[in-house]
Amino acid sequence: MRVSSMIRLLGTTAMIAGISTAAFATDIASLREMANENFDVIPSMVPAVRDNAVTRDKVELGKMLFFDPRLSSSALISCNTCHNLGMGGDDNLEVSIGHGWQKGPRNAPTVLNAVFNEAQFWDGRAEDLKAQAKGPVQAGVEMASTPERVVEVLNSMPEYIARFKLAFPGEADPVSFDNMAKAIEAFEATLITPASRFDQFLEGNDAVMTETELAGLEKFIDAGCVSCHNGVNIGGSGYYPFGVMEQPGAEILPPDDRGRFAVTQTADDEYVFRAGPLRNIELTAPYFHSGKVWSLEQAVAVMSSSQLGTEMDDADIKLITAFLRTLTGETPRVEYPILPVETATTPRPVSMTAP
Ligand code: HEC
Ligand code: HEC
Repeated sequence: MRVSSMIRLLGTTAMIAGISTAAFATDIASLREMANENFDVIPSMVPAVRDNAVTRDKVELGKMLFFDPRLSSSALISCNTCHNLGMGGDDNLEVSIGHGWQKGPRNAPTVLNAVFNEAQFWDGRAEDLKAQAKGPVQAGVEMASTPERVVEVLNSMPEYIARFKLAFPGEADPVSFDNMAKAIEAFEATLITPASRFDQFLEGNDAVMTETELAGLEKFIDAGCVSCHNGVNIGGSGYYPFGVMEQPGAEILPPDDRGRFAVTQTADDEYVFRAGPLRNIELTAPYFHSGKVWSLEQAVAVMSSSQLGTEMDDADIKLITAFLRTLTGETPRVEYPILPVETATTPRPVSMTAP
């Protein structure tokens, strides 16, 4: 009796699934096969990084540096100010605000899973995270410091000297700007978000994604989003014009930021940007390098018209955004570090003038 009603129940669900407009066309096994050809699972172990052993001491030091506002000349702005680890690894602002309340030119991408990007920044101008980390410290609109000042700050606090020695054993001059960047890179390598529902699906779990989400995944592949957004970060690995088919308007693509052109000085690279990594995308609004779009639905609609040349209907946009929301993984739990207290030799904060 119980068994037969269960069978009936299963039958009904299957029927509802069958007539649902959200149902995906292929069976779940073929869909998974297709997905596994295009995407990779986020590993649950910290990945290795080039030329930089990720050790416990280095990660711990890198975490302190990531949270230490004294890497900025105002002693007010840390990496975490713009890459808030409690808010998806970014600042959720249109464009970042840095030294002296200045607005930067671009939206802050997340540091979560950044270790998997082929290159860093919207235009890929830093080849890896250790190269990247030196940029914001010196950028006038961000932390407005200098390598010399940073080294002076670090050398003024005995605990930092001891920690650099531990993290870079055997080095003659462990407290350096390069090693600051390496330690931060090692910490960032730990900022990965495994076990999203999508990853669980890739690994063989049939029950973690709803019909709608699976239909969205299928649409994402069939419509061609996957040609630019693929691999472990579902993006972050190739450069394309923003507007392959049709350039978005100036309110979304401000004409003065010509993207990769500034890096390569090649006409073909005008308005070319790195395909955004889509991991944890629901946490990192607003979207695009300009940060002009707050709704994920609108971002998908913009992509559809600019990159694919199609006006996607609302139903398909809903499916795709439902899929994109399965890309949220487990955010790493980061214990806030206790930072060494300044000494008499620590350079004093540079005062910032009000705007
Ligand atoms: C004032 C805000 C601000 C501060 C402070 C800041 N960043 Fe950023 N970060 C940004 C912005 C904006 C971008 C994108 C810039 C671009 O693409 O041209 C960015 C890009 C990045 C990226 C590239 C991510 C990707 O997907 O390409 C990483 C990694 C990163 N920052 C790490 C750091 C670290 C480490 C620090 C501290 C040393 C730091 N940031 C300090 C705003 C900031
Ligand atoms: C031809 C390559 C290409 C195709 C096809 C493509 N994209 Fe993109 N995507 C990009 C590029 C390049 C960016 C970065 C644009 C910018 O802000 O400069 C991007 C950015 C995004 C963003 C914003 C990321 C962020 O962090 O702000 C989302 C969301 C997105 N794409 C989703 C999609 C979806 C959904 C599709 C299919 C409908 C799609 N893309 C098709 C290249 C592409």
